[in-house]
Amino acid sequence: MGEPVKLPMKKGLGQTDRTDGWWKGPTAMAAYLGFMLAYATWRGFMEADFWIFSEFGLSGGAGHDNGTMSIENNGNHVLSPLFSPLIIPGENSWVPTQLQWMSPAMFILIFPAGFRGTCYYYRKAYYRAFFQQPTGCAVSKPWNEYAGETKLLVVQNLHRYFMYAALAYLPILTYDVWLSINFHSVDSHTYGVTIGSIVLMLNVLLLSGYTLGCHAFRHVIGGGSNDWTSTKWKRFQHKLWIFSTKLNEHHKDWALYSLFWVMFADFYIWACTDSMFGWNDVVLFGGF
Ligand code: FES
Repeated sequence: MGEPVKLPMKKGLGQTDRTDGWWKGPTAMAAYLGFMLAYATWRGFMEADFWIFSEFGLSGGAGHDNGTMSIENNGNHVLSPLFSPLIIPGENSWVPTQLQWMSPAMFILIFPAGFRGTCYYYRKAYYRAFFQQPTGCAVSKPWNEYAGETKLLVVQNLHRYFMYAALAYLPILTYDVWLSINFHSVDSHTYGVTIGSIVLMLNVLLLSGYTLGCHAFRHVIGGGSNDWTSTKWKRFQHKLWIFSTKLNEHHKDWALYSLFWVMFADFYIWACTDSMFGWNDVVLFGGF
């Protein structure tokens, strides 16, 4: 076997013969992911104060115009996806006392964060944007070794399991949409749609596009099959696989837009509950 031939390449961080704007994509990605990460972390810690919980009640709703987790002032209940399903350590007796310092979002975020953090697309994006591994095609980086996803990075193999957790979120978040269109008063019940309901619906739609187009999901539903026709189930499985493949072709877009929308949905609900912003969740039709 012949010796591997090394292509001539300039040495030093960012050194390259490329003349295009190769650095723009990773820089924009670092800014986008960095901002989203900072926002989610900050919001995750925001509800960690249990004095605030006891003052606001279960969800920071009616009568407490600076609650931060859900809108309830129209008689419906619009919960931020960062806090769903709502677990209040001080109120849910099954939460061990050692964990009661945690905010509701901390119980939740581990799963979507694990799902996105191990996603094949995000791995490519943040390896380049944050770790210069690689800096870019044919662009020199500060170190030359490439060990693959070994040692600590074997944790990336957990992606399939995070995918199962992400699938479980879809019905939970759909249930939140249902809660948001149910309006209750002391003695009556009706239906209606607010801007908040639409924000939550779009969130479920975008997250479904992202999750059902996941490479691991696509593999689970059809990766090992070479029979698409022999039974009804096989034909159905084929349709599902085609559907997932179509979503998978745009996995990057679903990944980026759904991330933005989760954060926007949270921000919208926060802005409608905190008097600092002066926003109100408008009832578009129905309701009281
Ligand atoms: S590969 Fe991106 S979510 Fe699974």
